[in-house]
Amino acid sequence: MKVRYSYLARQFAEIEPILDDIRALVKSGDFTLGAPVRQFEESFAKLIGAKYAVGVGSGTDALFLSLKALGVGPGDEVITAANTFVATAGAIETAGARIVFVDCNEKFVIDPSKIEKAITKKTKALLPVHWGGQAFDIEAILKIADKHGLPVVEDACQSIGAAVGSRRAGASGAAAGFSLHPLKNLNVWGDGGVITTNSEKTRDQLRLLRNHGMSSRDEYAFYAYNSRLDSLQAVVGNHLIKDFEWITQTRIDNAVRIEKALKPIKALTFPPRSANERHSYHLYQFLAEDRDKLLKFLVEKGIDAKVHYPRPLHLQPASKPLGYKAGDFPVAEAQAKATITLPVHQHLTDEEIEHMIACVKEFYGEA
Ligand SMILES: Cc1ncc(COP(=O)(O)O)c(C=O)c1O
Repeated sequence: MKVRYSYLARQFAEIEPILDDIRALVKSGDFTLGAPVRQFEESFAKLIGAKYAVGVGSGTDALFLSLKALGVGPGDEVITAANTFVATAGAIETAGARIVFVDCNEKFVIDPSKIEKAITKKTKALLPVHWGGQAFDIEAILKIADKHGLPVVEDACQSIGAAVGSRRAGASGAAAGFSLHPLKNLNVWGDGGVITTNSEKTRDQLRLLRNHGMSSRDEYAFYAYNSRLDSLQAVVGNHLIKDFEWITQTRIDNAVRIEKALKPIKALTFPPRSANERHSYHLYQFLAEDRDKLLKFLVEKGIDAKVHYPRPLHLQPASKPLGYKAGDFPVAEAQAKATITLPVHQHLTDEEIEHMIACVKEFYGEA
């Protein structure tokens, strides 16, 4: 049996209703910043519980443009998590600032107790990551940011639908970046991103930044970028956003079921789960003894298990100019050696879930 990580073939088995709307879009010629984009931005802001949403070209652009909108540039430092995806750090670098890493905790999110030590006179923003559907400690980080007068840009690219208590990921910072990449929980047919903010000023700045700084067809407020969410992708997003609660709840149900079955295995360590948090399970991730052997075993059994990620960013060649070394972020480094991700998507069948559970049990001799 194959258990695929990608669910796209199943998700888009029935695409006629989407194609009907795309045909209408093609006839209208409303391709750039058209009505579907405005509709998507409105629905997305509501979904997140933020005042405004601005559609952009990708999640990476959402982070980069948010940093630019907040005035981050050369000579500044931006703090983020050492265990994040390359794009978070890339957004800081392309904004011209220096990347400053901080270690994560046992929930795979930035450890708030380690942030203050990394703050210097040059720190211009915090860019914590809601990782894999696990929100970071929003209250704790806002408190640190307020104390130091720093804006928080939430990297919520992996965490649409995550929350801590009544605070949803992406609703509390100065801005938050989301990704609509095909393998994200809310996806489109290519690249796409969204920024949420509660500030009208930031929204207006972002609208200029994504569209050449054009305040009108013939007036340019400043020189900027072209990073617009395509109307065509917004059409797809407008369809999928209707399924969003079902997508999130199905992923949660799958994760809970798998975890209940695997929890007795002593060789596995699961991140602590808090009753007041909503993990939206973009990634279903835990730590495993003999991880590499388990990974190989599962792949041989047809399961698309993965590692997110085997090497933290501070140990990547790209970080060489930053001067970090092994041992700087022990939690991220230990997790990189032991973490494994199982498919948890909303199109898994009962048989596929049971196959994964049975294979992990078999590997540890607990069948
Ligand atoms: C944590 C994180 N930040 C940023 C991004 C960038 O998003 P995109 O691929 O849409 O540019 C990703 C994408 O995987 C991500 O996982």
